Amino acid sequence: MITGIALLLAYLLGSIPTGLIIGKVFFKTDIREHGSGNLGGTNTFRVLGKPAGLIVSLIDILKGTAAVLLPALAIFTDVGVHPLVLGAVAVIGHMYPVFAGFRGGKAVATSAGVLLGYNWLFFLILLVLFFVLLKLTKMVSLTSILLSIIAFLMAVGSHFLIRPDVPLILLISVLMIFIVYRHRANISRIRQGTEPKISWI
Ligand code: G3P
Repeated sequence: MITGIALLLAYLLGSIPTGLIIGKVFFKTDIREHGSGNLGGTNTFRVLGKPAGLIVSLIDILKGTAAVLLPALAIFTDVGVHPLVLGAVAVIGHMYPVFAGFRGGKAVATSAGVLLGYNWLFFLILLVLFFVLLKLTKMVSLTSILLSIIAFLMAVGSHFLIRPDVPLILLISVLMIFIVYRHRANISRIRQGTEPKISWI
């Protein structure tokens, strides 16, 4: 019972359509009808500007963090599943939100939040690498895809060299598949050389 409630709560948390709420409430705009059509931080930056993009990205990150930290709440102490499972479910909610017709984001920010809740150092290293790769590629999509692969390699490396952590490797493998799958259109644009680049970094 508690496991089911925790899983449902994680999905509902992930389902909060931050970009849609901020867009509709403050700008009377559904960002899914503009830019890349994605309900995520990058498209919010693109369509509604930096402050809105930053807020949406931060909240989307925190959705993943909150899901992983659910077992820290007294009523969920014996939740019956690994916290990372709750994180993965939140990412599914972010991609397919029940509150937004199942048309959500591309898994990146909420996945990052899952890592923040589970291992903040891991998150911090990836955050630094995000800005380095973004500076080099000027494409958030390519940066996100590369980062998911780097995160997988880091998880495998730290499993063998620092501390065994099979759940983390499994989680990151799943997130990597989600991220690559959700970036299918971006990948074909990158291959054609038509993926939009950002100018502000
Ligand atoms: O986090 C999503 C980002 O990697 C790509 O977003 O809007 O450029 O498709 P977008």
